[in-house]
Amino acid sequence: MGRVSGKTALVTGAARGIGRAVARMLAEEGAKVALTDIDTEPGEEAVAALTADGHDAAFFEHDVTSEDDWSRVVDEVQSALGGPDVLINNAGIYQIEPVDEMSVDDWRRLMDINVTGVFLGMKHCTPLMREQERGSVINLSSVAGLVGLSGHTAYGASKGAVRIMTKDAAMELADDGIRVNSIHPAYIDTQMADYGAEVQGATKEELDAMHPIGHMGEPDDVAYAVTYLASEESKFMTGSELVLDGGFTAQ
Ligand SMILES: NC(=O)c1ccc[n+]([C@@H]2O[C@H](COP(=O)([O-])OP(=O)(O)OC[C@H]3O[C@@H](n4cnc5c(N)ncnc54)[C@H](O)[C@@H]3O)[C@@H](O)[C@H]2O)c1
Repeated sequence: MGRVSGKTALVTGAARGIGRAVARMLAEEGAKVALTDIDTEPGEEAVAALTADGHDAAFFEHDVTSEDDWSRVVDEVQSALGGPDVLINNAGIYQIEPVDEMSVDDWRRLMDINVTGVFLGMKHCTPLMREQERGSVINLSSVAGLVGLSGHTAYGASKGAVRIMTKDAAMELADDGIRVNSIHPAYIDTQMADYGAEVQGATKEELDAMHPIGHMGEPDDVAYAVTYLASEESKFMTGSELVLDGGFTAQ
């Protein structure tokens, strides 16, 4: 019996990076997993690897900024896998740029994916969770949603929004048996961290050294936290912010 057996999880942005690691760990712990992403080829590869290992998983093409996509995907997931009773709003983009150089179009695009995508996920998945009288929503924020960082006005605003939207939804949904929590990683070794290093002109070693623990995190560090929040082990936890940062915000 796995830690999330009997549950169906929908993971957005699951084609690569953190989302892909989260999908695998949830599947290994017994959940049926819907992997969704705008990028279909790696998403289908991720599902093929999971099903080859005997897990129950399916891929759904999905742009998290599109309300029509959310309606379709939630219906398709319900028909194919049941639920969903766990939602991981993971899809996101990162852009580091000085406040006076960022274009309004880039600002809006980032807000659309990182904030509107999370709002739409909660809007379309929580009615089903309410019917089932159980649910766990896990929103990917960041340390950038907790502390100020140069060049992070847009990204920080988006992740700060995710932090407080999580608490608002947690208050609204507590009576319905739905828990809502946010996760706040520092750098995790994915393409997003590669971009962070490149834009800041830093080597991987310099990025590692930003974390008191001496290195950035791995996608599985986030997957362990998500698995805990998805499981009944965290049944007393809602509206919380789980920080996974190698000591970054304790400095
Ligand atoms: N990697 C880090 O250092 C780090 C740190 C803190 C928080 N986070 C957050 O964790 C989450 C995952 O990050 P990651 O490092 O795995 O990123 P990543 O760039 O490796 O993967 C992001 C995934 O999201 C998908 N995506 C992008 N736009 C989409 C859209 N409109 N609709 C659907 N899917 C879309 C991409 O195709 C990709 O598969 C993000 O929300 C990110 O902000 C990451």
